[in-house]
Amino acid sequence: MALHLLKPVLGNNGRSFCTSTLKMTINNVTVIGGGTMGAGIAQVAAASGNTVNLVDVSDSVLQKSRAAIEKSLARVAKKQFKDDPTKGEAYVSQALSKLQYITDSKKAVENADLVIEAIIEDLQPKIELFEKLDKLAPQKTIFASNTSSIPITEIASKCTRKDRFGGLHFFSPVPMMRLLEVIRISDTSDETYHKMDNWGKSIGKVTVTCKDTPGFIVNRLLIPYSIEAVRMVERGDATHQDVDTAMKLGAGYPMGPFELADSVGVDVGYYVAEGWSKRFPNDPLYKPSELVRKMVKEGKLGRKTGEGWYKYQK
Ligand code: 3HC
Repeated sequence: MALHLLKPVLGNNGRSFCTSTLKMTINNVTVIGGGTMGAGIAQVAAASGNTVNLVDVSDSVLQKSRAAIEKSLARVAKKQFKDDPTKGEAYVSQALSKLQYITDSKKAVENADLVIEAIIEDLQPKIELFEKLDKLAPQKTIFASNTSSIPITEIASKCTRKDRFGGLHFFSPVPMMRLLEVIRISDTSDETYHKMDNWGKSIGKVTVTCKDTPGFIVNRLLIPYSIEAVRMVERGDATHQDVDTAMKLGAGYPMGPFELADSVGVDVGYYVAEGWSKRFPNDPLYKPSELVRKMVKEGKLGRKTGEGWYKYQK
């Protein structure tokens, strides 16, 4: 396919959208993993007109994903169409009509143009998932991982379609955060990279490109910052409330590191730090925090469980 056909063009409102050729390229998206990130990715893909299969292991997980998507779509509609509730309702129902919730991964990928994995942040299950999907998905299907911290090259290691493999790293909350990191591994073909990048633009994200380095751009900076914030509290330098206030009012961040941890999931940051401490055993920064380990063990995972660094009303 000629590359010029894949270039995004700017619409009147300055937001990029796709040429019809690209639309033909990625229409059917399968998201594996119905947690916060997977549900958010499925939502933005469906709201942009893609047909989306959201896959998880059980119907009960998918029911929670559905509820989260419905709530989030209603919030987006309220904000975007505040002067025209009828348009807001149409936006929500159009997005919902594009979504299927499914536990059968074979069926879910049989017509997929793009599969995005957003399962637990652990290398082995990711390798096994893609090895299985490689046998089930058609040749045309591009595979992408939304990993926060694991090298894409390792996740792709048992797949034969390495030229059609890359990373699409979203940020939480997915409907609100405008960035998408597009990751190339050494085998990713130019065509695959351009398709992923243009698809990202077509769903309203601003894309940046990064090599397959640990944490890519954002998490390479954000994870050490959040780990050091926990260390400050452990040392008794400051309370978590004061650290949050300081970073919001002194550095202009929209959330402090502890509010952010509660929003993303205390467990998410914990598993990233645990993985990096194994990968970089000589770096004391990644040594697991006993305090955070205890919170994860007790199920204090942040907003999603009603308690993390702060308490939330259910
Ligand atoms: N879905 C839909 N709409 C949402 C939403 C969601 N999940 N969250 C917020 N909104 C919208 C709603 O319209 C909401 O109005 P409502 O409450 O009346 O429905 C409106 O935003 C304002 O909500 P808030 O008052 O809660 O929003 P803020 O003005 O504080 O902005 C924010 C919310 C955009 C999340 C902002 O606080 C922010 O930018 N926080 C930092 C987030 C961040 O750093 N994310 C990156 C995390 S790292 C990561 O994801 C990497 C991964 O690998 C772990």
